[in-house]
Amino acid sequence: MALKTLEWKNNKLFLLDQTRLPQTEAYYQCVNYQDVAKAIKKMIIRGAPALGVAAAFGMVLGARQIKTKNPSILRREILKTARILIATRPTAVNIVWAVERMKRVAEENQKQGVLAVKEKLLKEATQILREDVAANREMGRQGQILIPDGCSILTHCNAGALATAGYGTALGVIRAAVEAGKRIHVFVDETRPFLQGSRLTTWELMKDHIPCTLIADNMAGALMAQGKIHLAIVGADRIAANGDVANKIGTYSVARLCQVHRIPFYVAAPVSTVDLAIDKGEGIPIEQRPEAEMTFFCGRRITPEGVNVLNPAFDVTPGRYIRAIITEKGIVQKPFKSGLKKILA
Ligand code: MRU
Repeated sequence: MALKTLEWKNNKLFLLDQTRLPQTEAYYQCVNYQDVAKAIKKMIIRGAPALGVAAAFGMVLGARQIKTKNPSILRREILKTARILIATRPTAVNIVWAVERMKRVAEENQKQGVLAVKEKLLKEATQILREDVAANREMGRQGQILIPDGCSILTHCNAGALATAGYGTALGVIRAAVEAGKRIHVFVDETRPFLQGSRLTTWELMKDHIPCTLIADNMAGALMAQGKIHLAIVGADRIAANGDVANKIGTYSVARLCQVHRIPFYVAAPVSTVDLAIDKGEGIPIEQRPEAEMTFFCGRRITPEGVNVLNPAFDVTPGRYIRAIITEKGIVQKPFKSGLKKILA
């Protein structure tokens, strides 16, 4: 994908506004950390790894907003910025991961003075961005081995270049398979209610001329029964120590359908998405999104006024339904507990 998902330029963070895609390709400018927090909450930027990178630059902007020469005041304000950024979206562990990494850099350089801390923070955020792209390329390189030539792949939500600093996780594996000369067809779940599949994944795949077909989420089972889907691959927002995976709502249904139809179900995610502090899926916090995402469509109410609504952004797929977890450190097979521990050691 030629367009950058996010970019640091002229002391500002530019985010490709994903709420305006596919109709408008425009960038949202963040001049302070509050802009970044707002962009994350409003889904202008989304996808766990991209959120981590955006939050890291949010920390850079936050530190730069503090006009002090006193490192203790800087430290106090950095911690406040960190808390605000972490609270934006609770399921995507990459935000916590990136913010904690930035906090560590600030702590380690505190003695060098305020200016040095600010410089080191920018260096670290830039490094986090670079590492993310490199991790996705490596995940693709390793994961594409699992993709047979001539197969049809189902994906859910958007785990592509738009959800990362570039190349993508699940779509990165697909891209790498295509680059290896394999003929692939991708079935894209539209991904109700926010439509990341129909708005973003199709846009990305079509830009790269990767053959794809959009389907409504409730069509996947019928296609599997007809033998039209050979494997499924998705991303992750948080992976518990036992291999349970939180990802976009509807992922669990896809995984169960795959199990019934004996179709391999893969998860692709960088190791920064693995949270060994959480033993199993039940412990993963699930973000609840605003009701309006369900009750309105293109700005028009589509439900009766006052209807009861549930809108969890994610669900948890137990590790037993996952064939393998593809990371940049290798393909992890069952038992996931020891496998994940090993790659994170
Ligand atoms: O609510 P979103 O759009 O941020 O959800 C994104 C997903 O669920 C992705 O599958 C996940 O973050 C992995 S992206 C590489």
